Amino acid sequence: MIKHEIFEKNSIILLGGIIVTVAIGGLVEIVPLFTIGETIEQVEGVRPYSPLELQGRNIYIREGCYLCHSQQVRPFRDEIERYGPYSLAAESIYDHPFQWGSKRTGPDLARLGGKYSNDWHVAHLMDPRAVVPESVMPTYPHLARKEIRMPDIAEHLKTLTIVGVPYSEEMVASAAADLMAQATPDADVEGLMQRYPKAATGDFDGDKTRVTEMDALIAYLQVLGRMVDFTTYRPEYANGAAGESQ
Ligand code: HEC
Repeated sequence: MIKHEIFEKNSIILLGGIIVTVAIGGLVEIVPLFTIGETIEQVEGVRPYSPLELQGRNIYIREGCYLCHSQQVRPFRDEIERYGPYSLAAESIYDHPFQWGSKRTGPDLARLGGKYSNDWHVAHLMDPRAVVPESVMPTYPHLARKEIRMPDIAEHLKTLTIVGVPYSEEMVASAAADLMAQATPDADVEGLMQRYPKAATGDFDGDKTRVTEMDALIAYLQVLGRMVDFTTYRPEYANGAAGESQ
C-alpha cells in the first residue's frame, strides 16, 4: 500500500508505470504476429475466391448475414457431429475481413457448400418460411431483382493482392469475364475452373438471362467449406501418421 503511494503522488512515475503496463499488453498481442506465417499451416485446396464468389461474399457482408450466422466450426464434439470437420485457420486465410462471427441465431455456415441445391437456396432466401416454417430469418427477394454490375471487379482483386491474397495477373485480367461466365449456363468455364477449382458453375437463381446478386450469393454459399478435401486432409502435427478421423 505504501509503495503504491509513490505512483499516486508522482504523476511522472505514474505515467512511466502506465506506459510499461500498456507496452506489456501491446507486446503480448503484437509479438505472436511476427511468426504468423509459420503458425498457420498451408492446406491443399484453399484458394482465393472467384470473382463471383467474392461478390457474393460482399453481398453476404452488406446484408448482415454474419449478424446471425457464424462461419467457424469449433473443435468440440457436438459441433463436429452437427456441422462437420472443425474449421482450419487456413480456410479463412484469404478472407478480408474473416467471417468467423460469434452470434448463432441461425446455424453455422462454415460447412454449408453442397448441403442444399441451388433451388433450395433460392426458395429459402426468397422466403425462409417457405422451406423452414418456424424460421425467423428475414426474406431477401431483392437479391433476385438486382443485376450484378461490377465494372471494378479487376481492381477489387488487385486491391486484395495488397493484403496478401495471391490473385495472379491472369486472374485479374480475366476477372470481369470470369464473373459472368460462372453464372452463365453453357459458358466456356475451362479457364475459370483451372483458376478456381471446385467453383460451382451454371445458373443459380433460376433466371438464365441475367447474372443477379442472388447468383453471386449462392455461388459463395456453395463453396463454403468445400475447398479442403477432408477425406484426405491430415493436420501437419500428425506428421503424416493417420490422424484421428474427423
Ligand atoms: C435474424 C437472423 C438471421 C439473418 C440476418 C440471416 N439468417 Fe440465415 N438463418 C437464420 C435462422 C434462424 C436459420 C435457421 C432456420 C432456417 O433454416 O431458415 C437460418 C438458416 C440459414 C441457412 C440454412 C443453414 C442450414 O445449414 O440449414 C442458410 C443457408 C442461411 N440461413 C443463409 C443466410 C444468408 C445468406 C443470410 C444473409 C443474406 C442470412 N442467412 C441472414 C437466421 C438469420
